[in-house]
Amino acid sequence: MSALLRAGVMGWPVTHSLSPVLHGHWLKRYEIAGTYEAFPVQPDELSDAIDRLRNEGFRGVNLTVPHKEAAMDLVDSVDDNARRIGAVNTLILSDDGTLAATNTDAYGLIENIRAHAPEQLAEKFRGRPVVILGAGGAARAALVGLADIGVREIRIVNRTVARAEALAEIVSDQNVTVEAISWRARTEAFVDAGLLVNTTTLGMQGQAALDLDLTTLPKDAVVNDIVYAPLETGLLAAARLRKNPVVDGLGMLLYQARAGFRAWFGVDPEVDDDLRSAVLAVSPK
Ligand code: ATR
Repeated sequence: MSALLRAGVMGWPVTHSLSPVLHGHWLKRYEIAGTYEAFPVQPDELSDAIDRLRNEGFRGVNLTVPHKEAAMDLVDSVDDNARRIGAVNTLILSDDGTLAATNTDAYGLIENIRAHAPEQLAEKFRGRPVVILGAGGAARAALVGLADIGVREIRIVNRTVARAEALAEIVSDQNVTVEAISWRARTEAFVDAGLLVNTTTLGMQGQAALDLDLTTLPKDAVVNDIVYAPLETGLLAAARLRKNPVVDGLGMLLYQARAGFRAWFGVDPEVDDDLRSAVLAVSPK
């Protein structure tokens, strides 16, 4: 008799996580005898919760806010990608009981752009500079992902410039120039850009609007928002209106989930329209 394969997501709060629906869709589709549950875990309970994974037959878990940094000290190994991003989102338990951590957000961001703007990505956005708005955890993942595919010039625009400057360190040994730009100067940062990615929370449901003037952005620049609630953010609507190619944020969530599912359940799952519809059906509008 084979044991039920268990996985899930730990966060605080975690009730709004779309991951149970996402992984649940794949479990059903591939007819896998497994479970994926949401576990509300407060910050001071994280260490115990991770210990329990080892004892309760888990294959691993996803981690979401606020555990992505703290978990790095509670596992046996952290891979290079996660170390550079400074956060982990996927834990994988091996048969020998060791717990490995990785971060799949950079992969998720890049694969989402590849799926919707494949030519532009293959041409590294025509060799032009790319602009990242924000300097938080999501910006770190975007920076790592874009530097790794060979983008040569990255402009990080952030309200707190010092945070943008600190990010440059992450890719200092790679063949990429990183420029930190103030929020005030954002319009100038768009000149000649081949890609604009919003990694801030602005424009998200319940947050302030993202106040941008896209006049200086070339019309062929790809525009990607990692915010997916709402799916059509103000940024994407404005970009679409001036005919920029746009990539919404839902795909990043879908693609980042893939590596965990493969490691826990042994199937490399497909990101397709069925999955997208299943997740969209429960996503806040
Ligand atoms: P995450 O780790 O999810 O990326 P975060 O670390 O809270 O989240 O980062 C949020 C990003 O949105 C930051 O870049 C933040 O700018 P600061 O570094 O200056 O805080 C940006 N942000 C949030 N509110 C903003 C606002 N009103 N105007 C401009 N940027 C804002």
